[in-house]
Amino acid sequence: MSKLSLSKRFTLILAAVFLVGIIVGGTAHWRALQGRAQDEISVQGTLLIESMNAVRSYTSTYVRPLLKDDLDASREFIPETVPAFSARTVFENFRSQVDFETYLYKEAAFNPTSPANKADDFEAELLSEMISGNTTGEVNGYRTLHGERLFYIARPLAIGSESCLECHGDPADAPNSLLVTYGDKGGFGWEVGEIVATQIIYVPAAEVFNAALQTFMLVMTVFIVIFALVTLLINFLLNKYVIQPVDVLSALAQKISVDENFSTDLESSSLQAVTSRSDELGKLAQVFHKMAGDVYARTGKLKRQVQELTIKIDQIQRDEQVKEVVETEFFDELKKKAKKLRQDGNDETDVAKGKP
Ligand code: HEC
Repeated sequence: MSKLSLSKRFTLILAAVFLVGIIVGGTAHWRALQGRAQDEISVQGTLLIESMNAVRSYTSTYVRPLLKDDLDASREFIPETVPAFSARTVFENFRSQVDFETYLYKEAAFNPTSPANKADDFEAELLSEMISGNTTGEVNGYRTLHGERLFYIARPLAIGSESCLECHGDPADAPNSLLVTYGDKGGFGWEVGEIVATQIIYVPAAEVFNAALQTFMLVMTVFIVIFALVTLLINFLLNKYVIQPVDVLSALAQKISVDENFSTDLESSSLQAVTSRSDELGKLAQVFHKMAGDVYARTGKLKRQVQELTIKIDQIQRDEQVKEVVETEFFDELKKKAKKLRQDGNDETDVAKGKP
C-alpha cells in the first residue's frame, strides 16, 4: 500500500467504498424492487379475483331471478343466468385486449359442469389441499404455463347457498335445458358448504419483473456513472491541488540537496503558482520559499567567508614559509658568511687607505 501513489491510493479506497456501496445498496434496492413487483402483481390478482366475485354475485342476485321463469319455460338453456358463465365471459372480454391476453381466470373443479373447467394437475393438487383442509383461505405462488411465468392467486370456492343446488344438486332437479346442453354427468351431487372448485387467477409475472429489472439496471447504471465521475473528479482535484504543488516543492528540495545554484528556481512560475495560494499547501510553499531563500543567502555568505579565510590562510602560510626559510641553519650560515665578507671587505679598504 505504501508503495502506491496518492491518487492510486485514493482511487482504490474510493473503489472499495463504492463497491461495498453498490453491493449493499444494490441488494437492498433489488429486494425492494422485487418486493414491490410482487406486491404489484398480487394487487392485480386480488383486484381481478374480487371483480370476478362481484360479477358472480351480480349474476346470482340480479340476473338469475329475472330470467328464472324464462329458464324454466325455455327449451334452450340460458347461460347468462349462471354465475360461472358470466364471470368467465366478462373475463374473456377483459382478455380480448392485447395488454391482458396473458391473464387467465378459471373456476377449476374435479367434476365440472363444463369440461373447460376441469382442473389440470397443478390446480387439482391445490384443490385437494383445500378440500383436505391443509390450506385454508387464499394461496398464491408462481407457475409456468405455456412457457410463461405466471403468478397465481387461488381461493376455495364452496357452494354457498341452496340456490346453487338447483343446477348442481340432483340432475333430476336441474332445468331440462341445462341437461340438454351440458349433460347429466358433470357438476352434480354437490352439497352446501362443500368446496367444489378453486377460483384461480393467473397474472403474467415476467412483465412486472422485467420492469423491476429495468429500473434496477437504470439505477445501477446511474450509480456507476456517478461513481466513475466522482473518482475522475477527485483524481483531477487531488492532482491539481495537492500532487502538482507537492511535486514542485519536492523537485526544488531535490535540486537544493544536490545543486547550489537554485536561485532561478525560486523565481520559477510553477513555484509562484503554489506560493500565491492561500491554502495550507500555499502556506507551506511560502515557508519553504523563504527557507530556501535564506539557505541560498547563507550559502553565499559562507562561500565568501570561506574565500576570505582561504586568502588569509594562504598569506599566513606564505609568511610561515618565509619565516621557516629565514630561521634555517643554512640561512644563519649565509648570514654569517655575508657578515664575514663584509668585514673582510672593510679590512682591505682600511689597508688601502693606509690604516693599521
Ligand atoms: C342455473 C343453473 C346454475 C346455477 C343456479 C348455478 N350454477 Fe354453477 N354452473 C352452471 C353451469 C351451466 C356451469 C358451467 C358454465 C360454463 O360453461 O362455464 C356452472 C359452473 C360452475 C362452476 C365451475 C365449474 C364447473 O362446474 O364447470 C362452479 C364452481 C359453479 N358453477 C358453482 C356454482 C355455485 C357456487 C352456485 C351458487 C352460487 C352456482 N354454481 C349456481 C349452472 C348453474
